[in-house]
Amino acid sequence: MNLLQESQRSLNRILISLDRSQLSKSDMAVFEARLNAEFPRLFELLFQLYGHRYDFYYYLQQLVDTLAQGFSQRSRALKSKDKKRLNDPNWYQSENMLGMACYVDLFAGDLTNLQAKIPYLKELGITYLHLMPLYDSPKGDSDGGYAVSDYRKVNEKLGDIDDLKTLAKALEKSGISLVLDFVFNHTSDEHRWAMAAKEGDSEYTDFYHMFDDRTLPDQYEHTLREIFPQVRRGNFTWNEQAKKWVWTTFNSFQWDLNYSNPAVFNGITDEMLFLANLGCEALRLDALAFIWKEMGTTCENQDKAHTLIQAFNSCLQISAPAVVFKSEAIVHPDEVLKYIDKQECQLSYNPLLMALVWESLATRKTQLLTQSMRKSFAISNQCAWVNYIRCHDDIGWTFDDDVAQQLGINGNDHRYFLNQFYTGRFEGSFASGVAFGENPSTGDCRVCGSLASLAGLESAIEHNDSQNIDHAIKRILLVHSIILSIGGVPLLYSGDELGLLNDYSYQHDDSKKHDDRWVNRIAVTDSAIDQANIPQSAQYKISQGLKTLIQIRQQNSIFGQAETQILETNNGHIFAFARHDNEGKTLLVLCNFSEFEQHVDSKIVDQLYSSLGHDLITQQSVSSNQGQIALQAYQVMWLA
Ligand code: GLC
Ligand code: GLC
Repeated sequence: MNLLQESQRSLNRILISLDRSQLSKSDMAVFEARLNAEFPRLFELLFQLYGHRYDFYYYLQQLVDTLAQGFSQRSRALKSKDKKRLNDPNWYQSENMLGMACYVDLFAGDLTNLQAKIPYLKELGITYLHLMPLYDSPKGDSDGGYAVSDYRKVNEKLGDIDDLKTLAKALEKSGISLVLDFVFNHTSDEHRWAMAAKEGDSEYTDFYHMFDDRTLPDQYEHTLREIFPQVRRGNFTWNEQAKKWVWTTFNSFQWDLNYSNPAVFNGITDEMLFLANLGCEALRLDALAFIWKEMGTTCENQDKAHTLIQAFNSCLQISAPAVVFKSEAIVHPDEVLKYIDKQECQLSYNPLLMALVWESLATRKTQLLTQSMRKSFAISNQCAWVNYIRCHDDIGWTFDDDVAQQLGINGNDHRYFLNQFYTGRFEGSFASGVAFGENPSTGDCRVCGSLASLAGLESAIEHNDSQNIDHAIKRILLVHSIILSIGGVPLLYSGDELGLLNDYSYQHDDSKKHDDRWVNRIAVTDSAIDQANIPQSAQYKISQGLKTLIQIRQQNSIFGQAETQILETNNGHIFAFARHDNEGKTLLVLCNFSEFEQHVDSKIVDQLYSSLGHDLITQQSVSSNQGQIALQAYQVMWLA
């Protein structure tokens, strides 16, 4: 079968019956041009997913209607944003990009008050704001909002949809891109689709993976992992009303959608375009690794998961091309890379860098970080990493065991050590963290805690130990300096700019105490902000130090579009990389992960510069002493 020819035939037929009344002539011209360009790809992707079904054409036609409607409901302003972004497709690679992720309630109370915080964000240099899920969701535990009951309704504690639209406009005016969650692997069990499924409406039982008995669930379980073993064993939940087992990868109230049903693809596309039309510029694809299930596999990272995401991407190219996707794949590094493509996810979290920066802080050694980055950092120059140190979730040690093995490190033993270290169970550890998701069968777990607490500030303050306070501050600035310079969008986690410590109050809240990730979901209070204004306080040093680094980044184009080269040095405590742009500019970054002075062969500099470089951080030229450059405890150099 000639797919291209079939796609053209289908498109011609669909266009004949397309309702054009909602589109002006000029809009119709734009829409048709994009559709003509994009449809062959979309058709091919959907054919792979649904081509075997007798009703394939019906859903194709319905989808094009949805795309036309989505486009027609897009505001003038957003349509011109589309044009602007199409002319500057790599906008996210700029040195001006600086992200922050925050919870609306913890940062500002509600959406209206958040608007009043824009000056705070601007002063910090934020240009990208990810608001944690703010949609209508079940009362009590809603997995921090990741159980969505209605994508078109804002959680009433935070405001309403008009407040969100107003905020989006205010952010746009301030040069801040709004980023929203696209929680598309599951809905809450209170979503209208789930409610209808509970009633037994077969149109909607097909929206989820529902089973009359344990036969199939038991077969699937053989190859599945457990994401929240502390909540429930296995991946299925019995629903008494429907009298069925429901696939629930995460919490029992988060029902996995069934993407083998094209009605689900179309329904979610409609919701996606609604979010795009609110004015966000990136959608964070939550839990995207899990969207396709295949018996006998882990049901993670399946080929068809990629096909689906590419198909969603293609829909955006037609109706809202200003919006890009950010992949949230917290999986094996080789699998993380597969989601990153201009036609799939233009942006991706970098969980490997995140985990290994913590690994290097614990071990004071950088070999695993260096070798892993040499293997996995390079991505398409049309895409970008979103580099982060902390987020609202736990830290999972998702490094590549083969890379570790080559360095003589046993992956499982090392994960055990890292868990012990960051939960403070390892003698001499500086960290105050909490174990998360301990699996009683495997003994495996992950780690929670705020950046400052994991970096040692909490315990140093507790012991009133000024040397350790100093080291903790330096660790915090060290790790931030890496995400600010290595290439991609640096993403700060709200509160980390102030060095906020763990908040243990969740342990007294019935809707939260079983989920230790709440320890690092911390309110940014006025008094925390005041504290960071008191000279000499640790928080002051953190926030001022960070601001300085940010300013340097935003003033030097080498931090923007450039190629990153991970370097090996003769000192196992140093992490080093260089950046080269196409104007011939170079940046060399040297990071000392130990609390002792370290030396590095100055040849590393000679290879890049004719003379020794100038450190943008200390604003001093760096000299070599007998062929060696000295770095103080946790010192970073940005040599240009
Ligand atoms: C993502 C979120 C996490 C949530 C899960 C299920 O991993 O980051 O917080 O629990 O998806 O939606
Ligand atoms: C698992 C998932 C990841 C999610 C996390 C939440 O690691 O792979 O997507 O963020 O659980 O704890």
